Amino acid sequence: MSLFLIGIYSNCLALPHSINKEPDFVYLFSYSTTKNNNHNGLHFAWSTDKKNWFLIGNEYSFVRCDYGRWGKEKRMLTPFMFLDGSGVWHCLWSVNEYDHAFAHVSSPDLVYWGRQSYPLLDKELTFKDPIVEHDGKIYTIKFKGKENQYFEVKTRDFKVYSEAKQIEASQYRSANVTLSLESGTFTGQVHRVRWSVAEKLIQKTEVANYRAILHDERTQQDVQRFAGLQPVSASFTVHADAVKPISNLLLGVFFEDINYAADGGLYAELIQNRDFEYTPSDREYRDTTWNSKHSWRLQGTNATFSVDTIDPIHSNNSHYATLTTTNGNASLINTGFDGIAVKNGEKFNLSLFVKRLKGSVKSVSVSLVTRNGKEIARGVIPVASASWKNIKTVLTATDSASGAQLAIRPLSAGSLAVDMVSLFPQQTFKGRRNGLRNDLAQTIADIHPKFIRFPGGCVAHGDGIENIYRWKNTVGPLESRKPQRNLWGYHQTAGLGYFEYFQYCEDIGAVPLPVLAAGVPCQNSGTGGAGQQGGVPLDQMDEYIQDIFDLVEYANGSAKSRWGKLRADAGHPQPFNLKYIGIGNEDLISDVFEERFKLIFKAMKEKHPEMVVIGTVGPTFEGTDYTEGWKIADALQVPVVDEHYYQSPGWFIHNQEYYDKYDRSKSKVYLGEYASHLPGRPNNVETALSEALYLTSLERNGDVVTMSSYAPLLAKDGRTQWNPNLIYFDNKEVKPTVGYYVQKMFGQNAGDQYLPVSTVLSNNEDGVKKRIAISIVRDSKSNDLIVKLVNMLPVNVNAQVDLTGLVPPRSAVKKIVLQGDPVDKHAKPQESSITITDKSTLALGPYSVTVIRLASDRK
Ligand code: AHR
Repeated sequence: MSLFLIGIYSNCLALPHSINKEPDFVYLFSYSTTKNNNHNGLHFAWSTDKKNWFLIGNEYSFVRCDYGRWGKEKRMLTPFMFLDGSGVWHCLWSVNEYDHAFAHVSSPDLVYWGRQSYPLLDKELTFKDPIVEHDGKIYTIKFKGKENQYFEVKTRDFKVYSEAKQIEASQYRSANVTLSLESGTFTGQVHRVRWSVAEKLIQKTEVANYRAILHDERTQQDVQRFAGLQPVSASFTVHADAVKPISNLLLGVFFEDINYAADGGLYAELIQNRDFEYTPSDREYRDTTWNSKHSWRLQGTNATFSVDTIDPIHSNNSHYATLTTTNGNASLINTGFDGIAVKNGEKFNLSLFVKRLKGSVKSVSVSLVTRNGKEIARGVIPVASASWKNIKTVLTATDSASGAQLAIRPLSAGSLAVDMVSLFPQQTFKGRRNGLRNDLAQTIADIHPKFIRFPGGCVAHGDGIENIYRWKNTVGPLESRKPQRNLWGYHQTAGLGYFEYFQYCEDIGAVPLPVLAAGVPCQNSGTGGAGQQGGVPLDQMDEYIQDIFDLVEYANGSAKSRWGKLRADAGHPQPFNLKYIGIGNEDLISDVFEERFKLIFKAMKEKHPEMVVIGTVGPTFEGTDYTEGWKIADALQVPVVDEHYYQSPGWFIHNQEYYDKYDRSKSKVYLGEYASHLPGRPNNVETALSEALYLTSLERNGDVVTMSSYAPLLAKDGRTQWNPNLIYFDNKEVKPTVGYYVQKMFGQNAGDQYLPVSTVLSNNEDGVKKRIAISIVRDSKSNDLIVKLVNMLPVNVNAQVDLTGLVPPRSAVKKIVLQGDPVDKHAKPQESSITITDKSTLALGPYSVTVIRLASDRK
């Protein structure tokens, strides 16, 4: 075709455009509101005549500020948006009324917005009402500071800025306009854009609205949604010839010290604040009772209890108690973590550091006492020295109590110092010293997790640089470990440290997966410089990276190596076989992050090519951090990236194909945190079944999703910062959730080979199709075949699974069914034995998940 003809032809194709009534250009108004305390971000409205304005998506947020803490921060005030000479849109705004920082972000099309940055100004300056002027080379950002003073900073690239300089008020000429829209009167900027630009914005909001409707689907609407729905017949054909290998690490657990999961939880220590290191800063000075005396009190007469720092056992553990009695009639009491649960006959290891200060105290009684004052266990320990001595004894309970306390009573007058007061049940998990609570550790082990990710979550990257979790602070003798503030609002003793994590992994046959900060703290940090802008200074990154190398040596090095020796000294000369390391936790993907992540990744690749580094792609399944994180992963060929998303059951129902479309040549995925969230955050049959549906899709995509872990794992009743969790507990009891049982059903019935299945349903409505799922895997070790079936419909599904050639005729098999009303929080799986033939029909009850394990005769 000649060029001339192509021209005519394409003009013809373009004809509908030339005769349509849409404008070529429209006006676009960019603005934010003060609604929701300025949390709603950047909005748009359009107009053809600057008089009649139409909201785009009814105040849809095209950009939300990600600066600082949730709640108080993440605000957008006085945004200024403009188009630069090369067609890139920029937006600058004030992040709050007090910080000496502002925000910048840019976009090629107003739909996708890139990385946010939060440049810092001089300490005394604040920032509002920016305007930007451009002379072709340099951007001049003019803004109002305090008391209506005006300033400017200059930049060529929105990365490097000049110092702020004060200017005359007359030099600040605002082009802002104030418009009355249907939703209120707002100030912003008016731009002239092609209609297609506005149209894309409108489309974006329409897609978002449509998705929101799907994602809001709840089982409580099922009565209407599925009114008249008859039982569905499903016929499943297995394609045994198309088996594909899938990850044998697919299902693991993610442990984070949140909700008192560690101290007061999995870590079996029964004494709270054993080291007198609680400090008001742990709770950001909001709790007047939270100090070095927390959980301790003096009982009796003629005695004093104070906390000293003059001559501590170790500089990392600088506080200790001094107890002075004049008549031997007073005790120092520890109330434990909401009391100490004691069973009659139970034995406890008690250990404390003690030294005589004044007088002649020769011995001390240590006892467990009930709330009513009954002594139910007692020992006497000597105080033999004026220097610190570690004394140990065993207490045996003569009765049971749920809220016992520990009492330390000097048996004569005098003054002594006490520290590191520790009480462990003798029966820890696998009988480990400094071990884990048996019932909790076993409940986790029962999932058969293939790996454990630790120590967080946000705990790993911390609230500000100083709060980044440093593994070296958590190993070695307990008294030398460095406790620290837990960003979830309490205290971490570090008693459950890297050694204990590695050991637990080994004890349950799980692969260890430590996660270290990527040299940046949590983007939601509120201390030490807001957000993650305060990354580890670049001149300290070598040292930071060396710490990571040292961790590899600690885990894998010979017992003679510097760090391997520390492991050996702790009782583990053999390596822990560390293979995976996570770098970063759902970070804000900023330039600050990228610079540090790259340094770590490249250094690790060079020094430890045998290690698999897992990168991070932000806190959700889409958006800027996800896109930018994946760009970094692509560019660096990061082997695995860690994805996180907490979504509604509707999201999980409607996104089962999420990984079907992943490019198999790119990084693999570790779905490191996910959970189905309903309003009120229950963990019930509805959330658990939506997770079960999704888990079948993870198995189907087990070639690209190599690992997954629900989050969070543990929560102590009455001490939760986050819901839902997988396992709740109190001092006496472990309370697994419905979601836990789903994880267990999948974890205990994992496979490493996936057998594709084709499905024919008697009802092909989308809502029906998406609520029925099947996954068939084989475990090559046992050669067992496992069929998992999920029915999230309110009616029976009669499932015919054609297993011809896969099972010996009339095999007796184990069937596990978890079923319940969607709001049921207590449903438990029921096991039975059934006989199955090549073409058995299985009745899948409403709202159920079924696992059938066909044991192979060839083991
Ligand atoms: O799982 C709880 C928290 O959720 C994690 O600490 C964090 O990574 C995520 O935001």
